[in-house]
Amino acid sequence: MSTEKTTMVERHKKLERNVTLLGVGTLLAVVVGGIVEIAPLFWIDNTIEKVEGMRPYTPLELAGRDIYIREGCYVCHSQMIRPFRDEVERYGHYSLAAESMYDHPFQWGSKRTGPDLARVGGRYSDEWHVQHLKNPQSVVPQSVMPQYGFLAESKLKVANPSANLTALTRVGVPYTDDDIANASADLEAQANPDMDPGDLAARYPKVQIRDYDGNPKRVTEMDALVAYLQMLGTLVDVNSAAAQEELATEKGR
Ligand code: HEC
Repeated sequence: MSTEKTTMVERHKKLERNVTLLGVGTLLAVVVGGIVEIAPLFWIDNTIEKVEGMRPYTPLELAGRDIYIREGCYVCHSQMIRPFRDEVERYGHYSLAAESMYDHPFQWGSKRTGPDLARVGGRYSDEWHVQHLKNPQSVVPQSVMPQYGFLAESKLKVANPSANLTALTRVGVPYTDDDIANASADLEAQANPDMDPGDLAARYPKVQIRDYDGNPKRVTEMDALVAYLQMLGTLVDVNSAAAQEELATEKGR
């Protein structure tokens, strides 16, 4: 060993044998490491880059999402496609950070008894979803998914749609005053073909306005849940130029 190295070891011995000195040294190392990791977060405006197409949920989709959470669908279903070949081949393009930016709380999930649902929107017809939710085994005989037929019988009741939107604005979801004022009407109009949807489609691009549960006479919890499922993963065109740009910067990080 060179003499220089020997003195380094000798000095380190001093540090290791003095508890106070070691404590101060450890603290210093953790503080410097912490600053390097955390400080940059205060200087960038946002940790998630916006992607074209992302918009907040419509009041009906939001109600569907609340039912999804209430019924514990997340216990068996994830909503996060990981960037692995087997997942991408089965479920579609891997999930982008921005795609769950308006989710409070997020629905990534940690268990997949059933398939990932992040891009299930548009994969099946509304009729398929209704039939599957009423009786999964009638569509997939070996399914262990429970039956949710009662959703089609339960009238959709949202105590105060405007208040739900207002609450979300507090955590940064960009609902406009118009969205909040029209929340109750929007909720009904998206699933009721007899109602005038007004400028719903202008405020919520790509919104799907139709009766979902096969019963246009009333708006049920089934309408809301299927509306939510049918929009999952449909907002961002993952193959568009803007999304590709975002992907490039994500990779470059
Ligand atoms: C006990 C676990 C479990 C629960 C809870 C559950 N599912 Fe499932 N789900 C499954 C399984 C297993 C499958 C695959 C077989 C099938 O299609 O029924 C599935 C399939 C699905 C599919 C088809 C996905 C595809 O790509 O083929 C959808 C949509 C779905 N579930 C929605 C829901 C919704 C909405 C809820 C809550 C109301 C829910 N599931 C609750 C287990 C579950």
